[in-house]
Amino acid sequence: MTNEPIDFEAIALSLSRVFTPATAINSDDLFCGRKTQIRAVVDAINQIGQHAILYGERGVGKTSLGRILHKKLKGREPVPIVAPMVNCDSGDSFSSIWSKVLSEIPGEYMDEGNTYEENSSEQDLDITPHSVRKILTNVAEKGILFVILDEFDKIQDESARTLVADTIKLFSDHAVKATIIIIGVSDDLTGLIREHQSIERCLAQIPMPRMDRKELEDIVQGGLEKVGMTIESQCLSEITGLSKGLPHYTHLLALNAGRQALDDQQLAIAPIHIKRAIKSALTQVQESIRNNYDNATYSSKKDTLHSRVLLACAMAGADEFGRFQPIDVCDPLDDIVSDSRHFTTDRFAGHLKAFCQPDRGAVLTSKVAPFV
Ligand SMILES: Nc1ncnc2c1ncn2[C@@H]1O[C@H](COP(=O)(O)OP(=O)(O)OP(=O)(O)O)[C@@H](O)[C@H]1O
Ligand SMILES: [Mg+2]
Repeated sequence: MTNEPIDFEAIALSLSRVFTPATAINSDDLFCGRKTQIRAVVDAINQIGQHAILYGERGVGKTSLGRILHKKLKGREPVPIVAPMVNCDSGDSFSSIWSKVLSEIPGEYMDEGNTYEENSSEQDLDITPHSVRKILTNVAEKGILFVILDEFDKIQDESARTLVADTIKLFSDHAVKATIIIIGVSDDLTGLIREHQSIERCLAQIPMPRMDRKELEDIVQGGLEKVGMTIESQCLSEITGLSKGLPHYTHLLALNAGRQALDDQQLAIAPIHIKRAIKSALTQVQESIRNNYDNATYSSKKDTLHSRVLLACAMAGADEFGRFQPIDVCDPLDDIVSDSRHFTTDRFAGHLKAFCQPDRGAVLTSKVAPFV
């Protein structure tokens, strides 16, 4: 029996296909967890007159869920699935949003004369909630139809958002067999649609929380398994702990740790690889995050506490939503600052307050009451 040499280069290439910190998940078999949210959206799709809004903080995995939805329905349903998904942007009007949607629907599902090319200004002028209803009613006769409007928070034109709410109401009142799914970055519904009261009953509100440790572990282990690599359990827990529920960081750290191991001609990720991975991942985090960190910690005076208080905040025992209380910062700060005095909250309350301000990058958000 001959032992084939391991092709570490080939594994490194596969690694960057399973860990994709910069892009949303496209493939169902790389998608982990999110059972509750998927079930809630699928319920909305299955119930005529129901629509859905999926909202949460940046980077929690909203687009990924939208992208794999049709794969979750495929196979179970004998009818074709038509699932146009479009990104909204700051310049969008109601017409431009729907002209993008209609241009994504394959011609075979559209009645003659209704095929749309994106950016056709003449056609843009014709689009109203009523015309959208008419066209999509016909498309929905031929299969399961759901429309995903991603990045809804980017729309600046308030009337476009109101008209989308009107469209949802119209679809619901006329029992149109098409589902509208809105995705956006927001803490709550009001941040995305102001007039939501009128559509509350027909709109399933689905918050996307941060992912739990188990879901993040599945991302790392599932990905490594696909490329024939393994990871020591303490390393796994370090990656998922540092990710704080945000899958982007899980992908970023797993990718870098895997590469470090492969550079050492190893298939098992060990603590030394994590250590190096953190260093290289830090050089790859988004420019905006690095700028915010610099703004938060910069001081013209020597020996200010800013960077140490911020580090202590990161180390404070937070709940599943990433929330902590000022008092939780004391112990980690004691560990970081070797100073014989025990820290009390009044010594850093001003820093916490400053971290919530835009000029300090707004790296913290004050949730309950302003820090005083
Ligand atoms: N369920 C999941 N399983 C595995 N990886 C995921 C999952 N959800 C998201 N990811 C990964 O997390 C990162 C962020 O995902 P995604 O772009 O979908 O988030 P988002 O909420 O749409 O972000 P944004 O608010 O910036 O639009 C990507 O690297 C993606 O591959
Ligand atoms: Mg997104």
